[in-house]
Amino acid sequence: MNTFFNYKNQILHCEDVNIPKLAHEFGTPLYVYSHGALKNQFQLFDTAFKEHDHLICFSMKANSNGSILKTFVNLGGGIDVVTGGELFRALKAGCAPKRIVFSGVGKSREEMKQALNAGILQFNVESIAEMNTLNEVAKSLDKKAPVALRVNPDVDPQTHAYISTGLKESKFGISHEKTAALYEQMVKMSHLEIVGIACHIGSQLTTVEPFVEALRKILSLVEVITKKGIKLKYLDLGGGLGITYHNEKPPHPQQYAQALLGELKHCDLKLIFEPGRFLVGNTAILVSQVLYNKERDSKSFVIVDAASNDLMRPALYDAYHGIVPVKTNEGRKEIKADVVGPICETGDFLAKDRVIPIFESGELMAFNSAGAYGFSMSSTYNSRPKAAEVLVSGNQYALIREREKMEDLIRGEKIPDFV
Ligand code: LLP
Repeated sequence: MNTFFNYKNQILHCEDVNIPKLAHEFGTPLYVYSHGALKNQFQLFDTAFKEHDHLICFSMKANSNGSILKTFVNLGGGIDVVTGGELFRALKAGCAPKRIVFSGVGKSREEMKQALNAGILQFNVESIAEMNTLNEVAKSLDKKAPVALRVNPDVDPQTHAYISTGLKESKFGISHEKTAALYEQMVKMSHLEIVGIACHIGSQLTTVEPFVEALRKILSLVEVITKKGIKLKYLDLGGGLGITYHNEKPPHPQQYAQALLGELKHCDLKLIFEPGRFLVGNTAILVSQVLYNKERDSKSFVIVDAASNDLMRPALYDAYHGIVPVKTNEGRKEIKADVVGPICETGDFLAKDRVIPIFESGELMAFNSAGAYGFSMSSTYNSRPKAAEVLVSGNQYALIREREKMEDLIRGEKIPDFV
């Protein structure tokens, strides 16, 4: 996956810490993150854009753990939030409000109030109705809401349909034909302050072309809007840079930056980025224990103690996560198997028809590239308490989220007298 996860004496390590030791201490399923990898990803992105004023707002839907947020905040990053819950967590992690952007198609009045009271940098507004509501809410608080319109540039990001957002038919953003007129309308709104323009076309993009195509469309809008005498400060280009899960070859941040900066020579707007997956995807593994091997009708199943409630991406998107043994045994035979969890659903799989080394019951298995949309999309389906998360730095490690307890499963539940 990367140099932060390596075998030493045939045992998988995260940085200098041995994975079986962590599994023994904290149990499985267990998310293990590398602090070095997190810093490295942030710095790669940051350095790539060093010649243009910019702010990297980590898209925390990819991973909302406070220690991870704080790692990026300490490196000078901001945070892209999409709910009041995310805003709460971002502030708790010490992110300055002026480094927070609020995206999302369905911000409630309550969430708008919360963000206005916090004093965030920018609301990325996605519809006329939202624009009007934000104006009203800001008025009720006697504040001005800093806004950017999220433009839907109608560009095909050539990624999985569920995670492509910049096409005309998707629910996201305002169609680019209508954008300039809406900016004129916004100028007249008493409690909105226009600060920027935004777009995000999709996730896990593996070529630069769709980003460039979207940027060109946005820049031509910036020109039209500026000519109308409307001053913008920020150009928010969203997230979406892909990573290698299997054999994808996404652009290096340098290539991505070069392609974008080539278009931005005459643009003095501050750039905002909202990368999620790139910053965290390949910084973690999910460690699991093999429960049983099962053969049926010439098909093999490896049943493990992690399941689709812990890592939902394979079940939901047919996503590929590499599988490696925690102890390499050279010369192990291989089998083709489905790697499945204990959940009572046919769709509960972590890999399908995958050629993997043969694992014995009780052995540890690691799923790669689990840092983005792994824990953050996990649930307690089948009343499975959520996994624990550990962060490693050199030879140090710390539990950054406890494994949920049985009591957590029923927290908040009440049984009324008539039952
Ligand atoms: N900004 C906005 C407005 C977004 O909607 C997203 C992701 C991002 C930034 C971050 O995109 P990234 O850099 O991570 O590609 N659950 C799916 C991914 C959903 C992405 C949703 N929006 C998955 O597991 O692949």
